Parts: sequence; C-alpha cells; structure tokens
Amino acid sequence: SSVPGAQRRAGGSMADSCCSDPSTVLTCLGALTLLYLCLKYGWKTLNAVRIHILSEFWRVDLKSYGEWAVVTGATAGIGKAYAEELAKRGLNVVLISRSVEKLKRVAAEIESRHGKKTLTLQADFTAGSWIYEAIELGLRDLNIGILVNNVGMAYPEFPGCFLNAPKIEKGINDLLNCNVLSVIQMTRIVLPQMIERNRKKGVIINLSSESGAHPLPMMTMYSASKVFVDFFSQGLSAEYQSKGIIIQSVMPLFVSTNMTHNLTTNVLVKKAEDFAREALNTVGLSRQTAGCLSHTIQHFLLDTFFPRWLYFSSFYINVVKAWNQREKKHRDNMTATQRTRKS
Ligand SMILES: NC(=O)c1ccc[n+]([C@@H]2O[C@H](COP(=O)([O-])OP(=O)(O)OC[C@H]3O[C@@H](n4cnc5c(N)ncnc54)[C@H](OP(=O)(O)O)[C@@H]3O)[C@@H](O)[C@H]2O)c1
Repeated sequence: SSVPGAQRRAGGSMADSCCSDPSTVLTCLGALTLLYLCLKYGWKTLNAVRIHILSEFWRVDLKSYGEWAVVTGATAGIGKAYAEELAKRGLNVVLISRSVEKLKRVAAEIESRHGKKTLTLQADFTAGSWIYEAIELGLRDLNIGILVNNVGMAYPEFPGCFLNAPKIEKGINDLLNCNVLSVIQMTRIVLPQMIERNRKKGVIINLSSESGAHPLPMMTMYSASKVFVDFFSQGLSAEYQSKGIIIQSVMPLFVSTNMTHNLTTNVLVKKAEDFAREALNTVGLSRQTAGCLSHTIQHFLLDTFFPRWLYFSSFYINVVKAWNQREKKHRDNMTATQRTRKS
C-alpha cells in the first residue's frame, strides 16, 4: 500500500515542479498566444480572400434586389464609378448631383454603354432639409433595390486646422448637410420602399472613410462626419437585417478623384472604377469594409503598427502641415503651367 502513495507523491511533485518552473509556464503561455494569433490572423486572411478575391468569381446577383439603383454624387469619382458598375451589372440607375450638364452627359454615357435606363435628379446636398421633398417625389414609383449614399465633401483647403477653413460658418453647415444629413434623409426615403412592397430585400451602401476609423487631426470635421456614417450604418444594419436589408459601411483609403486632386494611381491609390467594382463584390459578404484588397491590407497595417497616440502628436500635425504645403505648391505650379500653355 505504500507504493501507490509514493507514486502519487512523485506525480504531485512533478506537477508542482512544472507549475513552479517559470520557464515552462512562459513556454505554455507563449504557445497559447501564438496559437491564438495564428487562429485570429488565419481567420482574417481567409475572410479577406473570400471577400476580396473569391467574390470576383462568385458575384452576388445585384439585380435580384430590385430594378433600380440610386447613387448620390453620381457624376464624378467614386459615385460615377458605382453608377457605371451597377448599370453594367444590369440595374437602371438614378443619378443625383448638382450639375444638370454633367448629369445629362453621364446618363447618356451609361445608356449608350450599358443599354440601361437612367433618371437624373438635380440636387445640391449642402442646401439642407428642403431638397428631400423633390427627391422623394422623383423616386416614388421606382422599384429601388440599391441606394449608394456616396455624396460627400471635405473642406476646400484640407488638411488644416478647424478654424483655418475658409468661410467656416457656411463650411460647417455645408459639410454636415452633405456628409451626414444626406445619408440619413436618403435612407429615410428609400428604406420604407425596400421593406414594404413585400420584397423585404434591399441594399444601402454608405460611403464612410478610413478617416472615420479613428480621430484624424487636421481633418477633424470630415473625420467626425465619417464616423457618424459608419456608426449609423452599423446600428441600422442590426435593426433591419431581419427584414432582409443589407446596410454596408464602406471605408476607403485613397481613391484617385477630384476630392484627392486626382492622385496618381498605384498599388495604394485606387482608380475609382476598380474601387467600385471590387467594393460591389463585397456586398452581402461584409457589413463594414475598406472596399478593396489593397485598402483592407493598408487598414490592417495602420491599425496594427500606427498607434493611436501618434495621430495626436505634434510630430504628426507637423508632417501633415509640411505635406499639405508641398502639395499646394505643386498644384499651384501645375495650374500656372497650364495657364501659360493656354495663353
Ligand atoms: N476619394 C477618396 O480617396 C475617398 C476616400 C474615402 C472616402 N471617400 C468618400 O467617397 C465619397 C465620394 O468621394 P469622391 O472622391 O468620389 O468625391 P468627388 O470626386 O469630389 O465627387 C463628388 C461627386 O459628388 C457630386 N457632388 C459634390 N458635391 C455635391 C453636392 N453638394 N450636392 C450634390 N452633389 C454633389 C459631384 O458632382 P457635381 O459637382 O456635379 O455636383 C460629384 O459627382 C465621399 O463621400 C467621400 O467622402 C473618398
């Protein structure tokens, strides 16, 4: 009877020595952490492959959501690219922007290229609440499957400090009306149609921005308006998913458009057409997305290696100021060269 007792004591002392040996405990913790990180990033990578690569081959049938798509800010940049891509995928498109001339031109281009119907509504989204009655009337009898809340603006002279914005009082109203109110009001108009008519199907795509993923000094108002768009989208998505409505927040980094002074496209800066094509592939697969693979990778790297405190440091502010001055000088030189060439 003394032998099993001795074995128990021996076993007990082995376990004790394992637990009390700091290097063994650290090895176990390290192995568990490694396993956790492998699982986490492995899952993220697989998801990114599914959302951004496989979706190119197994595309969601966007036509199945309804006959018409509505795009705000649809005559240039990302909005125009979304409108074109939606028509290419078989939807008729309602284009909403300020300039009647541009609306006519883009509508004619879409009709001739893709053979789909278009409807144009002229509206200035900086004007405030009164414009929505006419928009509601214009959209009344359409079977709308997709709404792209794309219209958005930055300060004319961005990046810069809050009080340095030109005509700040008007600037504040314009930015909030255009970036925030337009998203809420357009959703209020279109969502009931999507839920009613017994279709219980619809997609609302809201253009937020990477600058809405964290506070962004020197673009404070813009960044704050974009976090609104993201939170609005996420909350609404939870409220209406049971009714078959997909609400997606798209948070791009740089896309070459008028807003970004038509930056040269490269592996980091997307062409608007490529961005819209890739972003539309993610509908139904992701509720919050950077829109394309390149921006998803950039977002991941920023999130992981660019600590938040750096955004709030004077170092960051000075770098942005210097970059802004360089860019402004470059733009002024280009304009001067163009003027000289013309004359
Ligand atoms: N470009 C980027 O790198 C980037 C990155 C992140 C997020 N975003 C977001 O993506 C969206 C589109 O950006 P973008 O770069 O394509 O912009 P953009 O090149 O400036 O194009 C803006 C479009 O909206 C229309 N528009 C502008 N102001 C308007 C107003 N007050 N009322 C009605 N229509 C108006 C313009 O047409 P008219 O002049 O004819 O009205 C044009 O069709 C925005 O919400 C932006 O915040 C862009």
